[in-house]
Amino acid sequence: MARKILIAGNWKMNGLLQDGTNLAKEVANEVKKLGKPECEFLVCPPFTLLDRVKKALRGSKVALGAQDCHMAEKGAHTGDISPLMLKDLGCTYALIGHSERRTNHGESNELVCKKALSLHASGLKAVICIGETLEERESGKTIEVCTNQIMGSVPETANATNTVIAYEPVWAIGTGKTPTATEVQETHAAIRKVVAKKLGKSVANKMRLLYGGSVKPSNATELLALEDVDGALIGGASLKATDFMSIAQSVCGK
Ligand code: PGA
Repeated sequence: MARKILIAGNWKMNGLLQDGTNLAKEVANEVKKLGKPECEFLVCPPFTLLDRVKKALRGSKVALGAQDCHMAEKGAHTGDISPLMLKDLGCTYALIGHSERRTNHGESNELVCKKALSLHASGLKAVICIGETLEERESGKTIEVCTNQIMGSVPETANATNTVIAYEPVWAIGTGKTPTATEVQETHAAIRKVVAKKLGKSVANKMRLLYGGSVKPSNATELLALEDVDGALIGGASLKATDFMSIAQSVCGK
């Protein structure tokens, strides 16, 4: 089953106008050099940079995504940004349910599911993030936690075109630690089974499952070669175009 590898950068709360624009230009140039890459590329800058980054990416094959969205189209939601606004800015993707939002903003599976529905209704693709904490992992609950998150956060409208799932163990994010390649493959295979249970086998076989959590040039080749890993969601290493591209080149090079 051919699933197109997705290399996604999550810039988090980093970048002012100038450096964010420069980073986007560098990524766009490097991706252009790949000619017709085997992979799809995505960058998710903070809201404040979306417009500038969109312009910097013009003519390149790099897609633009946001890091969150509100579940409503518009209305009295001070400080929030709707999927329609993101679409208006040129976004085609949005990350939702990232562990930093689940933790810092108390986002539940139910809320993440509503956001996914809203993204789908606006014609945007959802990258739904899931993953266990260290405590959950140490008590052997990794698969159980991921299962609950998939069952609760992935809506019935999800298909392989409008949804990507990113497995990001919370303890691996920004720590330099990662599960072993065997563990990542086991978890991804289990996630695919849960997706099959929820959305059917054919959707599950086509849906892309990204790994995220301390992906860097030195571990990318091994992680991205795994059967059920269809790309990476990259935080820290996406802030340096050379690192981001070196991760990409391990699977999408010429
Ligand atoms: P990291 O972040 O690559 O810095 O670990 C990944 C993420 O949180 O998406």
